[in-house]
Formats: sequence, C-alpha cells, structure tokens
Amino acid sequence: MEILDKVKTIREELNTDIESIKDINDINNLKVKYLGKKGLITELTANMKDLSIEERKEVGKESNILKGEVEGKLNTLLEEFNNKALNEKLEKESIDVTLPGVEIPTGASSILESVIEEFERVFMSLGYDVVDGPEVELDKYNFELLNIPKGHPARDAQDTFYIEGEDVLLRSQTSPVQARTMLESDGNTPIRMICPGKTYRRDDDDATHSHQFMQIEGLIVDKNIKLSDLKGTMDVACKKLFGESVHTRLRPSYYQFTEPSVEVDVSCFNCGGKGCNICKNTGWITVAGAGVVHPNVLRNGGFDPKEWSGFAFGFGAERLAMLKYGINDIRAFYNVDLREVKVFDRKDEE
Ligand code: DAH
Repeated sequence: MEILDKVKTIREELNTDIESIKDINDINNLKVKYLGKKGLITELTANMKDLSIEERKEVGKESNILKGEVEGKLNTLLEEFNNKALNEKLEKESIDVTLPGVEIPTGASSILESVIEEFERVFMSLGYDVVDGPEVELDKYNFELLNIPKGHPARDAQDTFYIEGEDVLLRSQTSPVQARTMLESDGNTPIRMICPGKTYRRDDDDATHSHQFMQIEGLIVDKNIKLSDLKGTMDVACKKLFGESVHTRLRPSYYQFTEPSVEVDVSCFNCGGKGCNICKNTGWITVAGAGVVHPNVLRNGGFDPKEWSGFAFGFGAERLAMLKYGINDIRAFYNVDLREVKVFDRKDEE
C-alpha cells in the first residue's frame, strides 16, 4: 500500500532529522514538521475517506504508532536538552567558597575624631559629661559672659567671622559652652562637663594656623574646687593621654575668664624631657590653657561665687593630634588627602 510506504519513508526521514538536531529550537521545528496541523503525520490521514474500512484501520493504526514514536523520541530529546542546559547553567553559577572575597573599601576614621574620642573616654572615666554647643554663637556667650566686655583688647586675638551685625558670630572658642551649661543649670547643682567642637578665627592659614580648628573645653563647678584640683586632674588626664611616664606642670598665664590662669605643660613624651625637635629643646610641651573660674563668670552663669568655685580648661584638638602622631602641618586635617587618612586606617587599631 502506498501509504504504508510513506510511513516507512517518514520514519527514515525522522531518524535522519533526529541525528542533525543541535538545539531545542531544532526539536521544536521537528515537532511542527511531523506533528503540526500541516505536519507529515497529519497529512498521512488526510485522504482516509478514499480508502476501504480495512485500509483505514491499517493506516490509522500505523500512523498512530508513528505518531507515538515521533512524540516519544522528540520529547525524550527535549528533556535531555533541557537537563543539559540546566546543568550548564548551574555549573556556571556555582559558587567557589574558597575564592578570596571582593575587598570593600572601608575608609578610615578621622585622626582628629579618634583623638577627641580618646579624650572623651578619659574624661568620661573621671565622671565628666560630654556636651554640645552651637558653632553660630552670640557675642554674649562667646565674650561678654566670659568676662570679655565689648572693646576689651583680648577680643583682638579672637577676631572671628560675623554672621549678622556684631552680635551673631562663628564662635572663636568652645568656652561659650561654659556659660551656656551654667545657665542651663539651676545654679545649685555641680557641673562636670567637656565639650569638643569646631571653632573659627580670622587667621591666615599656615602650618600652625587654620581659620577653622577644634577645641575641647572642660568645666567643673562644685564646692571647694581649688587650683590643686585642676593640677591633679590635668596630671591624671595627661598621663592617660600621653603615657604614664609624663609629668605635668602649670605655668602662670592670663585668661579673662579664669583667675588665676595657667598654661598646662607636659614633659616631652618623645624625649622624656631631654630636649628634641618636638619640644623645641625645652623638654616641655604646652597642651592646654586653664585656670580657676573667675567669680564674674560664675556669677554670670547663675552661681554664687561665695559658695561655688570651679576650674576650666581648653585643649586644642589639632595640637593634640599633631603631637601624638607627629603631624607637622595643621592643614593636613583639612585638605582631605586620602593618602594621609589611609595612614591612620581603622584596621591598625583592631
Ligand atoms: N578659650 C581659650 C582659648 O581659646 C582656651 C582656654 C583657656 C579655655 C583657659 C579655658 C580656660 O576654659 O580656662 O585660647
């Protein structure tokens, strides 16, 4: 029978076609070629009506077998190709946990910030609170309440930037936070605070001057506070900051808000007092201005100087950092050179 010959030819063609399959697309194309609406197998049964019942049965049976074969073979192949593709994908995606990770740059903490944090740790361990104050300040707090009235020559050394008229300015020191802290209190409760923060002056920038710098203020107000308490506190703090072997000394000085006023020196932690380039051959390094709080300042802050007394101090944060890390130019803190920051990468501290 002609049709049975066709079945045979189709089967042979299928086998050749299957051998040339390269991908899933080829399989889908073959499905259309053999099983589609106009496919070779569908065509086989198209002219059934011209055949006898016996022949129809025979053709029907043979074409069904062939159809089953085609479906079976193509589906098996499809599955194989799908599995192969999946395996390839999984293989590509597999993670080798032994490979080194991608390094994420973490940056470094600012040198100034770490010096301030260390300072805070030392003074917090002595019972001090860390407080904050505004950088845009009123003349009243920056000068007047600190015993520096308008026209006082001491203002010349602290010329600053004015924001509005003569009264609103960028603070030239952190000392106004002393006045603010006293006035925030009820005048009848002891104070023990430090205040680190930015300060500003109309200085020309050079290796030792910067129009913006940082100070760390300190104030204690209580009963019976004496100069010797200041000396003891400075000694303990400087030993913690610069090493147990340093000595401290107070030298007479002058500030308007303290009486008596002093400079706090530490023996050179580099040469031990023998003299070197850090201490400029003097054996001593000045680290802070300080003194016993002036009665006017206590009074302006709402404390009765007959009952209360206190001491205050001001450290220059950059100076501390420069001394500690041997940095010889204050501009290094502000010109944001990543190579300088990297030297003090956090990893060194861990
Ligand atoms: N504010 C002073 C300055 O900028 C530093 C200072 C000196 C602060 C003595 C104080 C102090 O609290 O008692 O030069």
